[in-house]
Amino acid sequence: MSKLFSPFVLKGLTLRNRTVVAPMCQYRAQHGLANDWHFVHLGRFALGGFGLVIVEATGVVPEGRISYADLGLWDDAQIAPLARIVDFHHHNGAKIGIQLAHAGRKASTPVWWRGGFTETEAEKPAVGFTHWVPVAPSAIPHSDKPEFQTPLALDQAGIDATIKGFADAAIRADKAGFDVVELHAAHGYLINQFLSPIANKRTDQYGGSRENRMRFLLEVTDAVRAVWPASKPLFVRISATDGASEGGWTLEDSVALVAPLKARGVDMLHCSSGGFDGYSIKPGPAYQVPFAEAVRAAGMPSIAVGLLDDPHLAESVLDKGEADLIALARGALDDPNWAVHAHHILDGGGQTYDLWPVEARGRIRDMDRVLGRRQSDPAAPKP
Ligand SMILES: Cc1cc2nc3c(=O)[nH]c(=O)nc-3n(C[C@H](O)[C@H](O)[C@H](O)COP(=O)(O)O)c2cc1C
Repeated sequence: MSKLFSPFVLKGLTLRNRTVVAPMCQYRAQHGLANDWHFVHLGRFALGGFGLVIVEATGVVPEGRISYADLGLWDDAQIAPLARIVDFHHHNGAKIGIQLAHAGRKASTPVWWRGGFTETEAEKPAVGFTHWVPVAPSAIPHSDKPEFQTPLALDQAGIDATIKGFADAAIRADKAGFDVVELHAAHGYLINQFLSPIANKRTDQYGGSRENRMRFLLEVTDAVRAVWPASKPLFVRISATDGASEGGWTLEDSVALVAPLKARGVDMLHCSSGGFDGYSIKPGPAYQVPFAEAVRAAGMPSIAVGLLDDPHLAESVLDKGEADLIALARGALDDPNWAVHAHHILDGGGQTYDLWPVEARGRIRDMDRVLGRRQSDPAAPKP
């Protein structure tokens, strides 16, 4: 049996395998409410054999949404449609997490696949259109592109309210039945804006030294850990590096985050990168694995993500001890059955059919028998 398809235990959570669907914004919500789009988008990954599915960046306060069409968890009415999705995952063998997010100065931007604010006046009420001035650590826009506004710098009351927003959303996530909460501290959004000197020019206790820039994340973590059940894992997604040659957040900084996050009850770091205008690292297969590896070597379990859709490559990352879990985003969109297909590739026929839903597995086995494929352990000698 491959490592990728062996179970994984973390606190009170047991995953059927080590495959994860990374969070993916859909820009399909109205008033932050999940709907049939989210049910189908996410549910098909449960049927496709993934171990853990993480729901997209979900605004903890309305002004923390990337766009008006993001999911939200600032209101009790947003619990029930998410609970329906959670239940579906549980009934189909998958676990499910939710990424709690605040976009900071990257909030109130267009639904990207619309290519700008193209909503007509007639359309606006139907899609729940709103537009607002975002908040951030410092009053500096993300970029000079027209969709990014100059944000208002958060004062202490604003910081406190935002931290409370994260904690209240975590309470609602628990009520919805989620197995994991992931704090979005990556991709140049609010928490990342506090961490990185590119966006954080504050002169108070939240800015300046690395210790001060970490403060907001650590306070959010404390507030969420205080309400999120001790038996349930808490993940943090980081941009392990901004990709800036100087003056940014570095992998060394990320490694320095491990001890304080661990001390506060964080169980897993999900290691991405980038998010600030003009900086990034060059993508390629497994390009972010060294970040997951460095974090894991510092004592924190980690998720590797980024162009890991070759099952053999994914398996080798686990085999070499570079990460604990493997996440896919675009690869899962491309093939929602990726997990079960990867299981066949790594582990052959036989029991691997059991990862298909019961409604499908016998039929697919019959089809494969006729076609003479996936019948045996790929390591076994060919007849
Ligand atoms: C459609 C789409 C939406 C995304 N939305 C989010 C998001 O909500 N939160 C997040 O942290 N990353 C988001 N990402 C980034 C992915 O989670 C992932 O880190 C990235 O796509 C690299 O993985 P991949 O090569 O497997 O696609 C998104 C990516 C895609 C393709």
